[in-house]
Amino acid sequence: PRRWQSSLPQLDNADRSDEENGEIDWDNLGFGLTPTDYMYVMRSSPEDLGGFPRGELCRYGNIELSPSSGVLNYAQGLFEGMKAYRRADRGGYTLFRPEENAKRMRYGAERMCMPAPSVEQFVNAVKETVLANRRWVPPQGKGALYLRPLLMGSGPILGLAPAPEYTFLIYAAPVGNYFKEGLAPINLVVEDGFHRAMPGGTGGVKTIANYAPVLKAQMDAKSKGFTDVLYLDAVHKRYLEEVSSCNVFVVKGGVVATPATRGTILAGVTRKSVIELATDRGYKVEERLVSIDDLIDADEVFCTGTAVVVAPVSTVTYQGQRHTFRTGPDTVSQELYTTLTSIQMGLAEDKKGWTVAV
Ligand code: COI
Repeated sequence: PRRWQSSLPQLDNADRSDEENGEIDWDNLGFGLTPTDYMYVMRSSPEDLGGFPRGELCRYGNIELSPSSGVLNYAQGLFEGMKAYRRADRGGYTLFRPEENAKRMRYGAERMCMPAPSVEQFVNAVKETVLANRRWVPPQGKGALYLRPLLMGSGPILGLAPAPEYTFLIYAAPVGNYFKEGLAPINLVVEDGFHRAMPGGTGGVKTIANYAPVLKAQMDAKSKGFTDVLYLDAVHKRYLEEVSSCNVFVVKGGVVATPATRGTILAGVTRKSVIELATDRGYKVEERLVSIDDLIDADEVFCTGTAVVVAPVSTVTYQGQRHTFRTGPDTVSQELYTTLTSIQMGLAEDKKGWTVAV
């Protein structure tokens, strides 16, 4: 059966040029979807015994899926998010810790009963996707090429069970700042009705099923003028979990604290990197239960994520009370933002071996 639009033209060299891309306004990218030229596709059928034998680049476009695919019916799917930056100094592009995303996808796949590409296959596929779409990597300082790897149960299944076939796909889009505030501080509201995850659930894996359920709270928050929602734990309704699309940190004195992951919180790659950078810079970093009282008492609050990078939080509203935090120059979040992005963009020496050249 023809499952994908194989009539799409394959790679040709003319399209792989790195010439100026005059089609887009690099200064106003935001986090909207700008379709690019190619996507990477790789499938695993039952006869592949859990392996992904061969992948290929094909034209970016719609995909054909069985109406009874596991992903459409039972949300058997995972995604990842990564960025490629254009390097100003020696040309080429840099990825940031792509093997961490590969490993996280393998961990999530185990939870969701799916086969997953090897770390090497994943990283090579990401590199190929960046190169094929290189005219879409924003000029330095204007943003990054966002890579969105997907893993899904693409085979048909009716009774609730793992799908018989899996598809790994990567598409790309040039992006700027995630929040409409740009780099300006954001305003969060603490949600005390809805929860994002519960113990024993899937909050700690990057399944697609963790994201649509937050839309309702997010829409309500946006309609009231908030940027996004901060979730509390489902059991005590007291401890911070994460924001819809990113992890959260609080700073008090020289201590930086973030909720320990413990299964309900996504182990963000930016979260992990910021913990290490803050420790290197002399802060005491604690991964522990962080209560809403800790947050109210904090000097600073910030969010981390691949899409949001390090975003300062200026206010958090909890039970109708608005709490204000330090933002601007001379904040810990600003220091960590600069330290992290300098490595990611190739402006500072990468002493940690986190960046991967493409
Ligand atoms: C990312 O930060 O890359 C994510 O996956 C979050 C997404 C909701 C934009």
